[in-house]
Amino acid sequence: MSDCSTQKYSADSHIAEIYDQVETQLDDVDLIVRLIGPSTGLTIFEPFCGTGRMLIPLARQGHRLTGLDESAAMLARLGAKLQAEPETVRNRVQLIHSSVFAAQWPAQVDVVLLGGNCCYEVSSSDEQKALIHRAAACLRRGGHVFIDNDDHPSVELAPGWRKPPGQPRRAFPSGTCQDGTRLEGSTETAWYDIHGRFTHYIRRLKVTHTDGSISHREWQETCHPIVLAEVLAAVKQAGLVVEQTFGDKQGNPYGPGSPRALVWACKS
Ligand SMILES: C[S@@+](CC[C@H](N)C(=O)[O-])C[C@H]1O[C@@H](n2cnc3c(N)ncnc32)[C@H](O)[C@@H]1O
Repeated sequence: MSDCSTQKYSADSHIAEIYDQVETQLDDVDLIVRLIGPSTGLTIFEPFCGTGRMLIPLARQGHRLTGLDESAAMLARLGAKLQAEPETVRNRVQLIHSSVFAAQWPAQVDVVLLGGNCCYEVSSSDEQKALIHRAAACLRRGGHVFIDNDDHPSVELAPGWRKPPGQPRRAFPSGTCQDGTRLEGSTETAWYDIHGRFTHYIRRLKVTHTDGSISHREWQETCHPIVLAEVLAAVKQAGLVVEQTFGDKQGNPYGPGSPRALVWACKS
């Protein structure tokens, strides 16, 4: 069993295709475009860029994008999609294959995107804070960071997260690829800590290949759902000024029951 949570995106090369089947919405990209305004040619850095759901539309808009991801499979799919783009778009994109904490982040960028629930990709409050501090460090003065996570409504682990251990349930990555390869992902709560706001999972992946052979992967994952108050505190500590908060990807105000917690903050 591996203890690497990024197995979720790296355990099999077909995962990237399943990701693109599941994650098709672009409301957050539309919101980013509205927040950026009419400027074009901005330098935008997207750690956790995945298969380019956000990166490609922004490059098409004329911005210069650097994407970073540690999954070779996700980056390979992004690279293949870029090949289908006009050369002008392709030339605006640079990709870095690395863990977020191992790589040097670009300097003096206009916008950093910490979108798509990426704070949930790291497993502790310290790492979540570190992402926001790193984002602040690589922005130019007047640059912005976009932070978008599922809202977690309480400081203690919310009841919906307290699933009984020992009950596997279907989870990402699950689905059938174009070549017929079938992925069946599951997640099983191993333990949770209500006061520490942690859930520890056992993740499994069964892959049925086109020749009928089957492979199994298993790894562990720890999740620390971030709350808006933590995001706001880290943003302030990092020397950023919150300009707007939203409660969903359409840009509606944040309030009780909001599904998301989004922050648009500026380096003053
Ligand atoms: C949920 S996907 C988000 C992709 C994209 N931002 C989007 O919104 O569609 C998360 C991505 O983060 C990457 N990832 C997770 N942990 C990482 C880490 N520590 N360093 C770099 N990339 C990481 C995964 O490989 C995956 O591609």
